[in-house]
Formats: sequence, structure tokens, C-alpha cells
Amino acid sequence: MALLIHLNGEDEARWAKRLGEKLGDKLGDFPIVRRNDVFDPSDIRYVFAWNPDHDAFDGLDSLKAILSMGAGVDALLSHPKLPAGVPIVRFVDDELSQCMSDYVVANVTMHHRLYSRYRADQMDHNWANTAPHPAWKINVGVMGLGVLGVHAISKLKPLGFNVLGWSRSAHEIDGVRTYAGPTALDAFLAETDILVNLLPLTPETKGILNYGNFAKLRRGVLGGGPVIINPARGGHQVENDIIAALGDGALGAASLDVFETEPLPKDNPLWDTVNCYITPHIAAISNSETGVNYFSSVLLDHESGKPLVNVVDTARGY
Ligand code: NDP
Ligand code: OXD
Repeated sequence: MALLIHLNGEDEARWAKRLGEKLGDKLGDFPIVRRNDVFDPSDIRYVFAWNPDHDAFDGLDSLKAILSMGAGVDALLSHPKLPAGVPIVRFVDDELSQCMSDYVVANVTMHHRLYSRYRADQMDHNWANTAPHPAWKINVGVMGLGVLGVHAISKLKPLGFNVLGWSRSAHEIDGVRTYAGPTALDAFLAETDILVNLLPLTPETKGILNYGNFAKLRRGVLGGGPVIINPARGGHQVENDIIAALGDGALGAASLDVFETEPLPKDNPLWDTVNCYITPHIAAISNSETGVNYFSSVLLDHESGKPLVNVVDTARGY
């Protein structure tokens, strides 16, 4: 019986150390191994994974669950050798939600207060005193009403923004106009000044941030034009369309935390695109302290016979 840690692009050693300290002797002879340790793959009951290698699951014939270090499971679900029928538990965490909301609030308020315009005016030593509208005149449309979308809305509402939401199934959220399903997308976009994407990446949502959809956003209220904010996945955005839309005014600005290729290649034109605000996939990173508490509980609870929580619906893709 063992837990295998397999994290790419993350501090695997730190997570392994902390999980070892937390689980201690609570599981008897239940070792924690890393992928370069010597172990018998058929002993592995749980694998804690992020961006797994091609051979990550080879020989893991006794898996009880896959634990995803992140909230988004698109990379896991598209793994060519993902073991069929093994439940996947994703990361759901207060700190992760708070950090994502911090990112959303920072970017929404920056664009609401027409940062791009005043910054450009400052560069030009131009005193043009057109003032921003109050927050309640600005419609913020949140795509994805899951853990992170609902949390972000709970932070945006008290700031006075008029918030709209779009999801796959119908939701009721106090004080929020909600839309559901593909047929309602155009109506949702037509009312949106600042579009925040908190969808999972699935075949249905891939490329949803495209020029055609930018052209449907509401115009005339937010000075400078509508804005997109994408801290979800790079696969949601068509980067050439964003560059074109920022160039011809279909979009006034874009805040992007994620990219089609990460790290964003040095020669990608987005780096030099005016009014594009780039951060390096840091909107909400999984904290190993809170994460170790969460995943230890998941594992210990499951070993004591309790059902797994936050299990991904693989048919839905999130
Ligand atoms: P959830 O699974 O909790 O929520 C997903 C939401 O998206 C649900 O409301 C769901 O609708 C909706 N949705 C899914 N498919 C569609 C569709 N085809 N049309 C309309 N709505 C759809 O996800 P989280 O809120 O936890 O996370 C969202 C994403 O954020 C993650 O998948 C990940 O990619 C990204 N993320 C990025 C981070 C970063 O640092 N940049 C950090 C953490 C997460 P319904 O409610 O009807 O099911
Ligand atoms: C996640 C991420 O999905 O960090 O948690 O992108």
C-alpha cells in the first residue's frame, strides 16, 4: 500500500515531505514514494498528480483514487493512459478560492476605473478628465458558476458591481441575473461589459474566448470598450483573436493569467500587445500547507470507509 507523488512543474519534494509529516504513522506501513524512488507499482493505492508524464499511470493496477493537486483537471482527463474507472478527486480549498477572487477583484476594479486610459494619458502628459461610471453601472459577466465563480461573485457584489452569471445548468444566486446553456450565451454576452472566465476546459468550452464572442459584448458603457479577464485555462482563448480584437477596438483590454502555451513563449506578440495585462498562471496556486491538510483528510477518510469528496464527473469533463 502506498501513495505516489507525481508532480510536474511543482515542488514535488516539498509536497512529499509535508504529506509525510502530516500522515506520519497514521496509516501504519503506508509509505509515500516519489516517481524516481524504487517501488512496486502494484503497491500504489493513491497517486497525487499534476501534469502527469506519459507513463505516470503505467503498472498502477491497484489504484483507489487519483488526487489532483489543482482544481482544473483538463490535463488529467486528456492523459492518453488515464486509468479507466478510477475516481479523480480535485482540489477545493478556501485559500485557492480567496486567491482567485483576489485576482478577479483586482482586475475587474482596475478595468472599471479605466486604468488603461489614464495610464496612456499619463504617458502622453494628457489631462483628459472624463470620469469612470460608478460600479453599479458596470455589468460583470462571470462564465462558470462553480466553486470559484460563485466565490468571486460573493466578493464582486459587495463592491457594487451588477453581476451576471452563465453556466451549463440553471443556478439561482441572490442578486445575480443568471443564464444557462449555449442558447443563452449570446444574451449573457450582450449584457456584459467585463467578462470573467472561470469555466473548466472541456471540448464545449475550448476556444470560447474568440473574436465572434468578443463582438457580442456590450458596448458604450465601459469607456474604452469591453474587457475580458481569463484566469481559467489558455485553451479557452484564441490568442490571435485577442490580439486582433485589442488592435481594432473590439476589446478595450484583456487580463490573461493563462495561455495556449505555457510558459508564454518570449516571442509571443501578446507580451507587446497594448492593454493586455499578463500574469504567469499565478491567479490561484495550490498551497502545500492547506493542500496537505485537504489531501490527507481525503486519504484518511477514504481509508476509514468514508466516500470521496469533490470527485470529478469524467463524462462531463469537470
Ligand atoms: P467548477 O467545476 O466548480 O465549476 C465549473 C463551472 O463551469 C460550473 O458552474 C459549470 O456549470 C460551468 N460549466 C462547465 N461547462 C460549461 C459549459 N459547457 N457551458 C457553461 N458552463 C459550463 O470549477 P472551479 O470553479 O473550481 O474552477 C474553474 C476553473 O478555474 C478550473 O477548471 C481551472 O481550469 C481554473 N483554475 C485556474 C487557476 C489559476 O491559477 N489560473 C487556479 C484554479 C483553477 P454547472 O454549474 O451547470 O455544472
Ligand atoms: C488549478 C491551477 O487548476 O492552478 O488549480 O491552474
